[in-house]
Amino acid sequence: MTNLIEVGNLHVRYGKFEAVRGVSFTLGKGEIVGIVGESGSGKSTIARTLMGLEKASGGTIAINAASMQMIFQDAVGSLNPRMRVRSALKEALKHFGKWCKGAEGEKQLAALLSRVGLVGDAVLDQYPMEMSGGQCQRISIARALACEPEVLVADEPVSALDVSVQARILNLLRDLRRELGLSILLIAHDLAVVKNVCDRIFVMEKGVFVDGGEAEALFASPKSDYTKRLLRAVPSF
Ligand SMILES: Nc1ncnc2c1ncn2[C@@H]1O[C@H](COP(=O)(O)OP(=O)(O)O)[C@@H](O)[C@H]1O
Ligand SMILES: [Mg+2]
Repeated sequence: MTNLIEVGNLHVRYGKFEAVRGVSFTLGKGEIVGIVGESGSGKSTIARTLMGLEKASGGTIAINAASMQMIFQDAVGSLNPRMRVRSALKEALKHFGKWCKGAEGEKQLAALLSRVGLVGDAVLDQYPMEMSGGQCQRISIARALACEPEVLVADEPVSALDVSVQARILNLLRDLRRELGLSILLIAHDLAVVKNVCDRIFVMEKGVFVDGGEAEALFASPKSDYTKRLLRAVPSF
């Protein structure tokens, strides 16, 4: 399998505090890899470092993807409140040099909407405040897809959503992997979220990976007490 991301012994510090301490993992083409851990364990720091927003203090990061995009927990807040969906998507397409004018542009907008499971032209005229959290997350994903990324880094993309909506957004991520061959790094704070979606899962506690491997094996035989604790919080276990 081609690895699009290879992280080796990554360390990231904020001043004297080391938020990530020796983390290693890979993300293969078409793979969905989960990172799970409590708030403050260092998950977002890994995501931001991959995106070049934080500097590694040690270790190696190899990225073999032409483009990577990130989506966030606060989908409503990540969209410009003054921008209708049409402008938000157009702006993203323009930013990545993909925008075509006229009828072709309208087709691009319709294609992006349908990619994220939104139907009808009406949604193009809406503002973020007029949409549900789930719809806003779909629009953020559509914006990310505007540049035809190979990798999506999703930092707690469903944490702010109702459970029923969470499942639908997670299904969308799976569809995108299947239809576009997208590789996804899926960050979450509870195992229930990543359980049915990820091929491999890493469990993070206080800056280090304490467990990890094929999703099924991890659920069948968790190594660390911390993983066992997280598993007990998953309703079906
Ligand atoms: N900009 C920052 N400056 C100082 N400390 C930070 C900064 N960002 C995060 N941290 C600290 O690093 C640790 C990991 O944070 P973060 O990566 O956001 O965790 P998570 O995403 O798992 O909740 C936390 O203790 C947090 O307080
Ligand atoms: Mg975080």
